[in-house]
Amino acid sequence: MSLKIVKYGDPVLERKCAPVEDFGSAELKQFVDDMFETMYAAKGIGLAAPQVSVSKRLTVIDCSAGEDETQRLVLINPELIQKEGSQTGEEGCLSIPGFREDVTRAMTAVVRARDVEGKVVEVSAEGLLSRAMQHEMDHLDGILFLSHLSPLKRDLIRRKIRKMVKAGEW
Ligand code: NI
Repeated sequence: MSLKIVKYGDPVLERKCAPVEDFGSAELKQFVDDMFETMYAAKGIGLAAPQVSVSKRLTVIDCSAGEDETQRLVLINPELIQKEGSQTGEEGCLSIPGFREDVTRAMTAVVRARDVEGKVVEVSAEGLLSRAMQHEMDHLDGILFLSHLSPLKRDLIRRKIRKMVKAGEW
């Protein structure tokens, strides 16, 4: 089942999410399936639970956008345990459609998380996957990529979005 992706302005996006506790449950597995379905339908490479109005520490990532099943990643209650270097590249967000900006993040990242069964998984990544993990993990703390922009750029985008909201286009 495809879920509704909420957009910037919805308070759920700026709230810190609570840890997942129901590992192994049918509901959790179904939710993860729905998250992937929703992400693929929206042509994204990452989706965090708060983006579908669920304030839980869970995110799905697939840098192949559905082309390669082995790249499917489920990170539950993830923690960034190591990061190194830096990379600057264009970033977007399914909750802020139409806006893409350069964001600087760590080049490599090591993340420890749990899978749907509660098993500990450790993912070491660089480049795009590292960027995607950092972006999605930010969502779990209520942080959007706009927070990483200069105040000037951020305000410009906020003003544009406010106009779109008024015009009923958001
Ligand atoms: Ni996002």
